[in-house]
Amino acid sequence: MNKFKTEVAEGLSQSPKSLPSKYFYDELGDALFVKIMHSSEYYLTRSELEIFTKKSNQIIDSLQVEKDNYFELIELGAGDGLKTKELLKCLQNRGFNFDYFPIDISQNALDKLEISLKEDLPTLGIQKRQGDYFETLASLKKSQYPKVIMFLGSNIGNMTDAVAAQFIYELGANLNTGDKLLLGVDLIKDASIVLPAYNDRQGITRAFNLNLLSRINKELGGEFDIEQFSHQPEYDEKEGIAKSFLVSLKKQKVFVQALDKAFEFQEGEKIATEISRKYNDEIIERLIEQTDFKMVEKLTDEKAFFANYIFTKS
Ligand code: AVJ
Repeated sequence: MNKFKTEVAEGLSQSPKSLPSKYFYDELGDALFVKIMHSSEYYLTRSELEIFTKKSNQIIDSLQVEKDNYFELIELGAGDGLKTKELLKCLQNRGFNFDYFPIDISQNALDKLEISLKEDLPTLGIQKRQGDYFETLASLKKSQYPKVIMFLGSNIGNMTDAVAAQFIYELGANLNTGDKLLLGVDLIKDASIVLPAYNDRQGITRAFNLNLLSRINKELGGEFDIEQFSHQPEYDEKEGIAKSFLVSLKKQKVFVQALDKAFEFQEGEKIATEISRKYNDEIIERLIEQTDFKMVEKLTDEKAFFANYIFTKS
């Protein structure tokens, strides 16, 4: 059945209302996210790129891979590969023996990534895998080669801590002792830095958030008047979670044809659309405690805005 339809029906029937953030990423949403990454306010991508540009050799040392032993470098949600290319170049220069396995739900994203990798790193071994993370990991589990899994960009921040701990635990279930996990996370910092990242002045994040309603209009015959909702980011430094909402600007009823149902909104009523968790060592330790991983290393950018943690499967 149509999962989008079911999850929209559920999310809008609840109180408080919510919509899953994974539905941001249709073709328009993908393009908007690329623009967000290039916006001056969205520091996450630049900070992680700095770590990969300046510290790839340290990352490689902490991964404790052996030069002559073939290993598999697997990336969940590979995207445009900008950061990963820095690491791949260093690995190649130092003569490591590995293939790169980008995993993504979008075949289009994988095809584009492969084209640009072939141009920049013509001798790299690439084995694309399209699909759901766990389906593809289960298939990779069949090979007994050492593995390094990368999950970058603070993508894990869209999960609640309970879900994230379960997710990392399940990653471990697909690995052998000594395999590694390289996790990129945004760090807890002042609201004056975090909030603008989710409320850029050009209004790209606003369009990104509102695109959820446009998608309901397009795919489910929704009748949302986009003008009647506003984008509202919130961040409490003590809690360390950036939250995005869509706020109804008036009391209104919105009909969705595919659901044959109208949803009522009060003036000022919020739809929760995304959480973007920020971390510190304590929060990371608390998550990792619930898994079969142990921390090996933590690398940050100069400003300590972002961290790449390396864990080993015990
Ligand atoms: C891709 C999930 C890391 O939460 O910072 C960017 C998505 N949302 N601006 C994030 C996003 C609003 C982003 N992640």
